[in-house]
Amino acid sequence: MARRIRLFVVDPDPDVRAAIAGLARAEPRLEVAGTAGSLEEAAAAAAQAPADVALVAVDRVADADALAGAAIPILAYGREAQPDVMRRAMAAGARDFLVWPFTASGLLQALAEIEAAAPRDPAAGPVAVLSARGGCGRSSLALNLAVLLARRLEEEVALVDLDLDAGSLAPYAGVKAPATVADLVRLGAAVDSDALRQAAARVAGVPVRLFASPSEPGTWAATPAQALRGVVERIDMAFAASLLDLPVVFDERLAAVLDACGRVVFVTPAEVAALVPAARWLRRLTEAGWSGERLSVVCNRTHPEMKLPPQAVAEALGVAHVIQVPFDEAAALAAQNGQPAAARRSPTPFVRALEPLLRALVPQAEGRAAGPARAALPQAADVPRGLGPALPW
Ligand SMILES: Nc1ncnc2c1ncn2[C@@H]1O[C@H](COP(=O)(O)OP(=O)(O)OP(=O)(O)O)[C@@H](O)[C@H]1O
Ligand SMILES: [Mg+2]
Repeated sequence: MARRIRLFVVDPDPDVRAAIAGLARAEPRLEVAGTAGSLEEAAAAAAQAPADVALVAVDRVADADALAGAAIPILAYGREAQPDVMRRAMAAGARDFLVWPFTASGLLQALAEIEAAAPRDPAAGPVAVLSARGGCGRSSLALNLAVLLARRLEEEVALVDLDLDAGSLAPYAGVKAPATVADLVRLGAAVDSDALRQAAARVAGVPVRLFASPSEPGTWAATPAQALRGVVERIDMAFAASLLDLPVVFDERLAAVLDACGRVVFVTPAEVAALVPAARWLRRLTEAGWSGERLSVVCNRTHPEMKLPPQAVAEALGVAHVIQVPFDEAAALAAQNGQPAAARRSPTPFVRALEPLLRALVPQAEGRAAGPARAALPQAADVPRGLGPALPW
């Protein structure tokens, strides 16, 4: 899950403060927690506006001598990259220096580098949807979860069809995609967040953007693992959240992609024959560190007369519980017609059954305010020490 990073802007120039606030508004990964014209004002305001990062005009940084003790990272910026000014800013405790005017992508890049130095939130990153066999309902789940997640977060969510050889999300979502994941892999880091958002196809009527699969046999095996991981990370950065529909291949590409992921949704049908491969995959996932709240297991196409109750499935798979998703013909028909079931006004049983999964993915989401932003920089205190009134810079 991507996280919204809260900025506190300190600049004597109100136009620059407004310009940075405008940049942040246009970028779903950012928000401005507060602004101030001076460090004193910042100290007074910050208690009411906890932030993850302080963006401070360089003359203000250079004047302050105790930034190193601030609880949140400081990013300094100035109109020119003069070595002595930059050096003084860094010596005063700034973690990086940007030349103003910077772009949202430039700012995100700098923030990513700062964040890389902080411990990573293990639940941050894309949500991977996996299964041990084909036809289990991965694509149906990924598509409908994306719709529900986007509505819950009130922001656009990316849906990425990484089933590169035989993906089905474009027809399920009823879109003709202008670009595929393979195109993005070829372009590499040249594609910034804005271009990424433009490249994805809109899913009609819902705040979901689809990165389609080229659906050409052999594409998965021909794609370098790290390039794939890079694309997945950049997409997650560009959206409030991202969901990945993955192929049934446990290889180095899957391992690389999972390394970037925050959560796994593992889907298995409620059939005895499916339990052995599912248990094998779950063992490998557990060995790779996937367990607890970061791993959800879904038992799909359950039926009231089923001989295999969900608790028996959970025991056979060695997990505490499974989330049941019933057989639902309406959901299958919706996919056939290129309209996600979750986009309908009245939810079908399939969609209703996804609610516990959604709660597992976004435990504290009560709309935007309690979204994933808080996890951006786990070291940051709620009231930044360096900005708080009790301990001014
Ligand atoms: N709970 C359900 N009730 C009824 N039909 C379902 C359910 N889940 C999935 N289906 C249907 O089962 C078929 C396979 O589902 P889906 O394509 O989502 O699985 P998949 O794991 O992505 O398959 P593949 O391995 O082919 O990519 C589709 O026709 C879908 O509509
Ligand atoms: Mg599929």
